[in-house]
Amino acid sequence: MIYQKDSFICLETKELSYIFEILPSGHLEHVYFGTKTKSKLTDLKVKITAGAGSQVLYSDDHPIPLDLLPLEYSFIGKGDYRLMPFEAKMPNGSFVCDFKYKSHTIIDDSYDYNLPHALNADKTIIVTLYDEVNNVEVDLIYSTFFETNTITRKLIIRNMNENTLVIRKVMSMMIDVPEMDYDLITFDGGWIKETHKHIRPLSYGTYSIESTTGASSNRHNPGFILAKKDTNEDYGIAIGINLVYSGNHYSAVHVSNHGMMRVMTGINPHCFEWPLEKNAFFETPEAVLTYSAQGLNKLSHNMHDFINGHIVPKNNQKELRPIVLNNWEAFMFDFNQRKIINLARKAKKLGVEMFVLDDGWFSNRNDDTKGLGDYDVNRKKLPSGLDKLAKKINRMKMGFGLWFEPEMVNQDSKLFTMHPEFAIKVPYLEPSKGRNQLVLDLCNDKVVRYIKENLFNTIDCANISYIKWDMNRHISDMYSNKLSNQGMFFHKYILGLYDILKDLKTRYPHILLETCSSGGNRFDLGMLTFGPQVWASDNTDPMTRLKIQEGLSYLYPLSTISCHVSEAPHAQTLRKTPLETRFNVASFGVLGYELDVRVLKPYERKAVKEQIAFYKKYRDIFQYGKFYRFNRKGNDFQFQVSKDDTHIIGRYQTIVDASPNFEKLYLKNVNEANTYSVYSKPNVLNIDRFGHLIKHAVKVPFKHDGLVMRIIGKYKTLDNAQTKLLVDGAALKNGVPLKQQFMGTYYNTETRLLGDYGSELYVAEKIEVS
Ligand code: GLA
Repeated sequence: MIYQKDSFICLETKELSYIFEILPSGHLEHVYFGTKTKSKLTDLKVKITAGAGSQVLYSDDHPIPLDLLPLEYSFIGKGDYRLMPFEAKMPNGSFVCDFKYKSHTIIDDSYDYNLPHALNADKTIIVTLYDEVNNVEVDLIYSTFFETNTITRKLIIRNMNENTLVIRKVMSMMIDVPEMDYDLITFDGGWIKETHKHIRPLSYGTYSIESTTGASSNRHNPGFILAKKDTNEDYGIAIGINLVYSGNHYSAVHVSNHGMMRVMTGINPHCFEWPLEKNAFFETPEAVLTYSAQGLNKLSHNMHDFINGHIVPKNNQKELRPIVLNNWEAFMFDFNQRKIINLARKAKKLGVEMFVLDDGWFSNRNDDTKGLGDYDVNRKKLPSGLDKLAKKINRMKMGFGLWFEPEMVNQDSKLFTMHPEFAIKVPYLEPSKGRNQLVLDLCNDKVVRYIKENLFNTIDCANISYIKWDMNRHISDMYSNKLSNQGMFFHKYILGLYDILKDLKTRYPHILLETCSSGGNRFDLGMLTFGPQVWASDNTDPMTRLKIQEGLSYLYPLSTISCHVSEAPHAQTLRKTPLETRFNVASFGVLGYELDVRVLKPYERKAVKEQIAFYKKYRDIFQYGKFYRFNRKGNDFQFQVSKDDTHIIGRYQTIVDASPNFEKLYLKNVNEANTYSVYSKPNVLNIDRFGHLIKHAVKVPFKHDGLVMRIIGKYKTLDNAQTKLLVDGAALKNGVPLKQQFMGTYYNTETRLLGDYGSELYVAEKIEVS
């Protein structure tokens, strides 16, 4: 709901209010963002009663100190000296702007917009500001998403002046919060260590989160949170912000000399310059805001519901995602048709639903130095071609998925030989390579058309029901001879990318699009408007994945996080983790497998089959349930996901303590009066884990590492303690004691044996008791 009350504009969602006031001077004062309020609106304002010395007052008619006011947006040159969301060389050649309120309109639904944005808003308000001297307009656009407690903001700038206006910085939104006792929570990292949560206390000055790689990047996710110092997962105030954009982003929190926080997010001004001729306009990406007074879990629920309901493509909303087997980690580039078919057959037997053929299927691509750009099938590897392969996979009753990296080219390719000018480079300068590849110039319409044609022709060759869209290098040498101003490069590139993705989605709505960029290098809301899931990281080691998935879970729902079970020892960490733990982590997301299932030991095959059956049974909960984090102590994690009074809990132990403490099982979101049957998913205990200790567990006359035990080990597992409880919600909230963990003496089947990297899944289901 959006309405005007006197000079105030009130935006409301189910639980939140967002209020600003149109001041007599024409400036917009930010008044309130928080739990829904019906207060007297003037009482919610910051009370400036005497000014603060050494201040500049706006005008004789309106002697207001803009520097002290909480504002909705601010411009350079009229007395506000805080960090600015906007910088432009105005048509009159000055940097000074004087935008004032002109009009507003309230409409139903979302605003029609070229950039990807959230759909099906309840209401939208367009507030037009006008700079009379320059004849330039700015629209501040706000939409409310009632049920999900989110508000989006974006901006359009229109130049009506004969002279050109040159934008250097234009943030999608700005908000002034008149307090500073907040922590800034960001999600940062790099390749194989994406979205680790970092917490910084704020003090005076500016804090920024940005990417300059051409993508939203694995260095700093565009999403971030401001949380009061005493906020935790279930208690306290927090503001969540994200941006529907896949290119260079910039967000900043500036704490003023009077302890007011100015928060902004938008396109990164780094190398950005956008000229606007007469009657041209510029649209910013859309920013997303939410607020929680009930801790970070509630903040996540708002964001999750918003993404599942308004960001991901309509036909993917609520859709149960298939369990894939991806051949990359099994074979890398070294495969042939026989190997692929064999792998697919084995995968099918385990219950896999989609077979994904990753990199290496085209051209002469036998390593990462060649072939990118040429999507003609490699007949040496796949003599029957894609169509026949897809048919074979389909006959096994599995979908067929295919990997592409459409934005890139290797110099050793037919495409590059024919069109070297398609790759970006600065004239007379040798371009730098990343993963041996160059970036195609998506600022050039001809290249965009070529990519579409090339891609669509390949897709039309076979029955493809899933695409993995990869992008494996950062952009360098940004230059396009199609641009009059190279300051447009980064944003134009993203517009070119969105153009291709939009056509792909329109032409093949049935294809499930998973995006990827060396793992989570482009995990953002922009990509999610085209493909509903993202390969979260090339890192599938469950212990470090926990941090990645935890980080993502703050702002992205489990239905968007693609997670695979892979081999151990793990390729990147060399850590040997139990198969069960790999599943127990990967199941909190969209589950897949990425290992050579042809060579699984019999006990592993049985375990994987059971895992897949278990996941299928609870898939709807794992992908769309309400997800909860527990306040983390050190490196041990607990997650919960719930739907219709069925709850699944994942508990993860990184390093076991000698003689560990007794533990309780806690649940959230259960009804105290209801009775729950709680059981633990049986955990397979392979005898390998015991080494020479096996002689204490089972009396065997053989050497633990001898041939006999090695053979037995392929089949035989030991029983691990299982939990079965009948308890009510009150007890679960209070914590129900678990069977003790192994404390150094006596193996028996009543004692939980977790060890290092151990984990457990518990299911609590409401039952009727008479
Ligand atoms: C990237 C992806 C991987 C895999 C390889 C193939 O690294 O993140 O999952 O697809 O490319 O080259």
